[in-house]
Amino acid sequence: SPTPVNVTVTGAAGQIGYALLFRIASGQLLGPDVPVRLRLLEIPQGVKAAEGTAMELDDCAFPLLAGIDIFDNPREGFDGANIGLLVGARPRTKGMERADLLEANGGIFKPQGEAINAGAADDIRVLVVGNPANTNALIAASHAPDVPSSRFSAMTRLDHNRALTQVAKRAGVSVDEVRRLTIWGNHSATQYPDIFHAKVAGSPTTSLTADEPWLVDEFIPVVATRGAAIIEARGASSAASAANAAIDHVHDWVNGTREGDWTSAGIVSDGSYGVPEGLVSSFPVVSHGGDWEIVQGLEIGEFSRARIDASVAELVEERDAVRALGLV
Ligand code: NAI
Repeated sequence: SPTPVNVTVTGAAGQIGYALLFRIASGQLLGPDVPVRLRLLEIPQGVKAAEGTAMELDDCAFPLLAGIDIFDNPREGFDGANIGLLVGARPRTKGMERADLLEANGGIFKPQGEAINAGAADDIRVLVVGNPANTNALIAASHAPDVPSSRFSAMTRLDHNRALTQVAKRAGVSVDEVRRLTIWGNHSATQYPDIFHAKVAGSPTTSLTADEPWLVDEFIPVVATRGAAIIEARGASSAASAANAAIDHVHDWVNGTREGDWTSAGIVSDGSYGVPEGLVSSFPVVSHGGDWEIVQGLEIGEFSRARIDASVAELVEERDAVRALGLV
């Protein structure tokens, strides 16, 4: 039988971890024929709860689950990792300044980047979910100089999926008929969900883009502030939908995106679309089996340009702040 793929999940005892691990072990991350070995990384206080989750994973008797190991040390957690899902992060607590938040997360993502550099497998692919995801990915990548920076990505797939559903509902079609949406910029309220190149049931979205009140006052803010709306309704932040998006992201990265469509991911900019080189920004991307490529040649009108620029400006500020802290 094939060699199991080592999947390291940080923040394994958290709410996204709980929604994510069972789906990985059931074969939804990499495919129904690929055995996986889970490596759960937690802080010491989270280890006991991770052990409880591991007991439940055992109790599912997943045929593809080749083993589970639990660590509280990043060097061990990332040893031999083929896939790294970096979910655990330091949330913003009341009264915390942004610089404090970035510094606290630097304390997590710097050592994790170093551990990936030191011991991950040669084909390591990293998805950063923990917020601020783009800048955390930048920090991790910059401490893994021996790993191509194209192997680090930040999750905007949840935003992408949210946008698909909003468009599908508005157009009265199934989500499967909505294609070529793009999330640009930062995974934050400044993100820009772009439908100007989208297709609905094979046709352009002209009637939707022409409806400026819907576009400006409804669609864009609903997608960009959906996370806060979920917290308001559920009393807890998005977890199952975030886990689902992480599954989608890695699945498409490894197995390829579908023909005639693209998706969105935060990746290290090569300067495309005027996004400064080196920033981790969300782009329209395809994968043909292993590497994200930015979809080139899209015309960006004034409406979109201003919104992309605003979100990218926020990414520049975050990068400058972590640079001032010596984290990149
Ligand atoms: P949670 O608080 O339930 O779980 C986080 C877990 O991470 C905890 O078990 C904690 O012990 C662990 N952890 C903290 N520091 C760690 C470290 N250094 N190494 C290993 N584990 C560590 O949080 P939840 O709801 O699971 O969310 C996780 C992160 O995902 C948050 O930062 C959240 O903002 C982010 N998120 C990102 C989304 C996106 O679209 N990019 C969507 C939803 C959430």
